[in-house]
Amino acid sequence: NKKAFIFDLDGVIVDTAKFHFLAWKKLADSLNINFTHEINEQLKGVSRVRSLEIILAEGNVQATPEDKNKWLIQKNEDYLAFVHQMDASEILPRVEEVLQFLKINNQFVVLGSASKNARPILEKVNILHYFDAIVDGNDVTNAKPDPEVFLQGANKVSVAYENSIVFEDSVAGIQAANTAGMTSIGIGEKEVLHESDFCFRDFTEMNNDFIMQLINK
Ligand code: G6P
Ligand code: MG
Repeated sequence: NKKAFIFDLDGVIVDTAKFHFLAWKKLADSLNINFTHEINEQLKGVSRVRSLEIILAEGNVQATPEDKNKWLIQKNEDYLAFVHQMDASEILPRVEEVLQFLKINNQFVVLGSASKNARPILEKVNILHYFDAIVDGNDVTNAKPDPEVFLQGANKVSVAYENSIVFEDSVAGIQAANTAGMTSIGIGEKEVLHESDFCFRDFTEMNNDFIMQLINK
């Protein structure tokens, strides 16, 4: 009875939030919008287009569709400049051990991310080969908290939703997993991710016994 272990990317597998922050901040600065870490928190798990809308609303900036398009392209170019410098050292602590443990125990490993850059990032940090299926921002029409990304992920490996386990660092992602009827595991602060079924600060706090219980549940 194989389970589907579905991983979010940004903030769960790799710490790309810092690169998103720097790229968005550069754009915000150029528009004279005060871009704080608090706004950055609101962008976690949120699509690229929606992120821009949140930032523009913060600065009360009106923009034409052409402007928005131009800014989205610019932001992504700046973000990709950081991505191109990534290597395996950017993988968050113990993530690769967990991926190995799941594969050794014959489980499905799936990616469920809002990012359109997911595949190149997995390649850059050299963990693409662990994944049995990938669902990313190029596949999905409805963004988290809509469960579509996780439902597609479970469907790709033909596992029932109740036998799927989601690792997420964003509130929207935890809500998506819960709506999908999956086990939700928060990676981050319990106070923020209080809707999750289980929560760990990071993967170093999650031992193999716990993962084995999920496999045998
Ligand atoms: C993830 C991140 C968001 C990001 C989104 C889209 O959900 O947490 O901060 O905006 O992916 O990523 P992309 O790489 O397509 O711009
Ligand atoms: Mg995330």
